Amino acid sequence: MEADALRQELADLTAAVRAFLDWHVMTGTTGLPPGEAPSSAAPAHLPHLPASLEPERPPRSPAATYEEPKPARPLSAAPAAAPVAAYEAPRPAGSVTAAPMHAAQATEPVRQDRPSPRPVEAPRAVAAPVAAAPAPTAGPTTDTLDERRARLTVLASEVAGCQRCDLHAGRTHTVVQRGNPNSELVFIGEGPGMEEDRSGEPFVGPAGQLLDKMIAAMGYHRDDVYICNIVKCRPPNNRKPEAAEMAACSPYLATQLGIVNPRVIVALGATAVQGLIGTTEGITRLRGTWKLYKGAIPLMPTFHPAYLLRQPSAKREVWSDLKMVMTFLGRSVPERH
Ligand code: URA
Ligand code: SF4
Repeated sequence: MEADALRQELADLTAAVRAFLDWHVMTGTTGLPPGEAPSSAAPAHLPHLPASLEPERPPRSPAATYEEPKPARPLSAAPAAAPVAAYEAPRPAGSVTAAPMHAAQATEPVRQDRPSPRPVEAPRAVAAPVAAAPAPTAGPTTDTLDERRARLTVLASEVAGCQRCDLHAGRTHTVVQRGNPNSELVFIGEGPGMEEDRSGEPFVGPAGQLLDKMIAAMGYHRDDVYICNIVKCRPPNNRKPEAAEMAACSPYLATQLGIVNPRVIVALGATAVQGLIGTTEGITRLRGTWKLYKGAIPLMPTFHPAYLLRQPSAKREVWSDLKMVMTFLGRSVPERH
């Protein structure tokens, strides 16, 4: 490996470990995960990778037939040298770009060609969401990773020209997505803030940096998971999007979730929950309880990271919610010390 790439790899790895530790210091869950032997999947030159930062991920349900081991090939706007090669290489992942695409208007609608519905995967070993009929948007898919990326790129082009609600008037960039369209885990926020509007990428401001720490604490890299918002254009002064705006934008989100078809959705804050499942209940009551998106995809509501910036003591509750998600996904959960 070239020296530059190795240096970048070490820098990224250090950043990931630092974020992981920062989060645990903040939440009071100090220390590293239980000291098991490093996984055989860990690259030989990184033998001390904590268990929860390993590249290995549990297989999806057999019903999910699309998972293809493919090398990561990010389309991201991030520089090519950026990937965390050390533990990224083995995963069947690629990142989609969040780059704004202003002029490009989709010429074809994004198709939802799901052959048949996927059976509900009830979370194991955690309180199961109420079983319900599978949603039309969440069926088994034979999409390859490239197909998913292609469909999401078409979607992003379509969104870039969208004028379905008044929020279009104040935007600099539409903000559609970042991360891995093949991810088992999707995080959904409310809508772009100032820095997201400027960059065209979700969760890049202070709340995004905290979200990245939460993701690292769960044992993922920020690019391992798929991240998007309820509305794709920034509301003026960061106000909460109105119900009509959420409704106007919701087909895009439904399409995204249909394409990515994650095993779990984490809804960040009350607005995200409202935009996903329609409930207007307070997040304090909702958080920590499994819901179902369109009757098919387990959804965990938790506090928005922007709230955590104002109310750091709530990190404890968020960590508890994220641990439920990790347990459901079969990932190791660091012990509290
Ligand atoms: N808050 C959100 O809900 N989404 C973002 O993308 C950034 C901040
Ligand atoms: Fe279109 Fe959504 Fe932007 Fe409204 S918020 S203009 S519906 S992309």
